Amino acid sequence: MNRFTDKIAIVTGAGSGIGAATARRLGEEGARVACLDLDAEAAEKTGADIESAGGTAQPIPCDVSNEASVAAAVEAVGETFGPPQLVCNVAGIGKFAHTTEATVDDWNRILAVNLTGTFLMCRATIPSLLENNGNIVNVASTAGLMGQPYSAAYCASKGGVVMLTKALALEYIDRGLRVNAVAPGGVDTPMIGSFTYPEGANQKLMYALMTPFGLQQPEDVAAVIAFLASDEAWYLTGSIVAADGGLTI
Ligand SMILES: NC(=O)c1ccc[n+]([C@@H]2O[C@H](COP(=O)([O-])OP(=O)(O)OC[C@H]3O[C@@H](n4cnc5c(N)ncnc54)[C@H](O)[C@@H]3O)[C@@H](O)[C@H]2O)c1
Repeated sequence: MNRFTDKIAIVTGAGSGIGAATARRLGEEGARVACLDLDAEAAEKTGADIESAGGTAQPIPCDVSNEASVAAAVEAVGETFGPPQLVCNVAGIGKFAHTTEATVDDWNRILAVNLTGTFLMCRATIPSLLENNGNIVNVASTAGLMGQPYSAAYCASKGGVVMLTKALALEYIDRGLRVNAVAPGGVDTPMIGSFTYPEGANQKLMYALMTPFGLQQPEDVAAVIAFLASDEAWYLTGSIVAADGGLTI
């Protein structure tokens, strides 16, 4: 498939996991991919992977939670490739904690990266997307659709991403800008490996987060993101696609 020939794409969180798989997938399908990540080296690695597979990529360091960093990165995309047409907001962080032990710093950082970061990138690119028949795909989570234990900040941030997606979809529906989100269940990435249960966690509460399918691979989620970003999904806007092995049925 070559659904994105010469399209200019921004992928945040492109240095790892779902973001890296998404950047590679868009690159394989012909997009020129701006690989944005806080971790500059990781973004460079993904960019190099895309180029060595015959694609076109530009790594750009960016902290999505920082307004000036987002503005600078979007400007760099414009200078390198031209105005962006596809924006995939994948960057995210999370941490399990008992709510009574969670720090305000952790709460603020999770909201800043997952929710404010998605808002900042949408806000910075919407003018270009409107002019260039573009669209946005955000990465929410099952944690944005259902309660999950020891994840108050993460759930709040991803619930926010779900509603941000719907609000933008409706606001721009009459101007042809589609805004969708994928809500993945468990994905085999470094993030999930780094989540450790807080001391004294009730393991039985975690059973509710399991599906018979087990974990999926980042490429599985990238395929859903690529579909939503493609013209094949022209009738989808404000959709939150649960890619979760049936977890939220
Ligand atoms: N892994 C899962 O099970 C799972 C499930 C549902 C949703 N998600 C969501 O998918 C997205 C990607 O997660 P992943 O599992 O691939 O994680 P990951 O940790 O493998 O990758 C996240 C990437 O985001 C980057 N990043 C972190 N903070 C950033 C910032 N401030 N600015 C720019 N980049 C930043 C990291 O450097 C990293 O490269 C996240 O939004 C996550 O919440 C993951």
